[in-house]
Amino acid sequence: MKGFIFDLDGVICSTDEYHYEAWKVLAKKLGVSFSRMDNNRQRGVSRMESLEVLLEKSEKLFTEDEKVTLADYKNKIYQSLLNNMGEKDLSYEVKDTLDRLREKGYKLAIGSSSRNAKIILEKIGLDNYFDAVSDGNNITKSKPDPEVFIKAAEYMNIPCEQCYVVEDAKSGVEAAIAGGFKTIAVGDAIKYKIAEYNLNSFQELLKIV
Ligand code: BG6
Ligand code: MG
Repeated sequence: MKGFIFDLDGVICSTDEYHYEAWKVLAKKLGVSFSRMDNNRQRGVSRMESLEVLLEKSEKLFTEDEKVTLADYKNKIYQSLLNNMGEKDLSYEVKDTLDRLREKGYKLAIGSSSRNAKIILEKIGLDNYFDAVSDGNNITKSKPDPEVFIKAAEYMNIPCEQCYVVEDAKSGVEAAIAGGFKTIAVGDAIKYKIAEYNLNSFQELLKIV
């Protein structure tokens, strides 16, 4: 194995919680219920697909233009939460594990559905750290389609089957399986038991390699 492709939100840092907070504000404004379970279904999928999950509970129907306005509203709230982030939001455990994988000779990439990935990487001090970043800005289909990971592998010049994908989203593990990657689940994704490895902590990656 030559490379690692990491999801960002909920794997490298806890921005998944900020997504949850921001969607909750929108749900309240629309008067629809919104739970952790709903939020777990938003993991890995694009902003507009995440909005559709939230709108399933709404009796009102929205036009495409109105949906774009709602998604923009959520993104503004989300970005204001990101503003408070800094290097403190990258844990020692994650940074140390990444450094050790690199020392072992692995190439490291990001494979994220987010269009905010670059802002987040800057905030936590990891801009220019990864060998490649594939995110919501360079894909046409989001997870569970494997496109984002295939692009990341291409950017690193490594065949998909020689890369591990690390994911906290069910859709992300499904995407990695579809793309022929070796799959590693952390966080919410471990309960589905569909990945090859299901880890209780990020540093357990070092036990695999
Ligand atoms: C993924 C999150 O990383 O990015 C999803 O898991 C989110 O929940 C998606 O919808 C898109 O994020 P953004 O930052 O482009 O709105
Ligand atoms: Mg994630």
